[in-house]
Amino acid sequence: MRRTLAAGNWKMNGTPEMLAELATLTGGASDTAPQIIICPPAPLLTRAAEATANSPVDIGGQDCHANAKGAHTGDVAASMLKDAGASAVIVGHSERRADHHETNAQVRAKAEAAYAAGLTAIICIGESEEERLGPDCLDIIAAQLDGSAPDSATAENTVIAYEPIWAIGTGRVPTMEQIVETHDMIREKLINRFADQGENMRVLYGGSVKPTNAAEIFQAENVDGALVGGASLKAADFQPIIDALAAS
Ligand code: PGA
Repeated sequence: MRRTLAAGNWKMNGTPEMLAELATLTGGASDTAPQIIICPPAPLLTRAAEATANSPVDIGGQDCHANAKGAHTGDVAASMLKDAGASAVIVGHSERRADHHETNAQVRAKAEAAYAAGLTAIICIGESEEERLGPDCLDIIAAQLDGSAPDSATAENTVIAYEPIWAIGTGRVPTMEQIVETHDMIREKLINRFADQGENMRVLYGGSVKPTNAAEIFQAENVDGALVGGASLKAADFQPIIDALAAS
């Protein structure tokens, strides 16, 4: 049984005042409850870790550099995220692939840096709208998975997040048929490449997950949770998503 996961990506949002809400999130206390990870902007990590010290909420970063240290102004090393209290880091989010031209090879190197620092890498993949409408959509997603996931990925150190770019922040979500087909394909690829580890690796859906659509999305066998952007900013929106996961 794969433990379900509700991960919140705050992106470049969040104030110190919002951190108090994190400690009110419930779920995640036992191995049978969904795990909860919130990824605030890097300057808030330490305070987020302090605010959640006595709660079931884990903390994650939104990106890390592929190198352990060095002359990379503005970047953050995975070990620094770990020191700040993170246990996970998102790598290869489509906004970073677009804004910073990150390639699959760079994403893979970042995931390896996360492993070296003892962090779980949440590796994001997903197609553009044009790709979704074309004939090769699943092949494109499979190639991203192949290129972005390191050979040393395990069920412990890696979570895959399937996020169609056109669904992020738009209120649009794929049909259930598309979600099921894509997640089944990802599971098959993971098993082919990583055997039991691939069977046990968590695969999240991301892109406009809301309290109103979460329960339906979580019905899919190979959806093990969600990576949530906008709806993770308020406990009033995120808690019902966690609850839907717990009930799935
Ligand atoms: P959204 O973002 O939930 O606001 O669509 C998801 C994401 O980018 O991870």
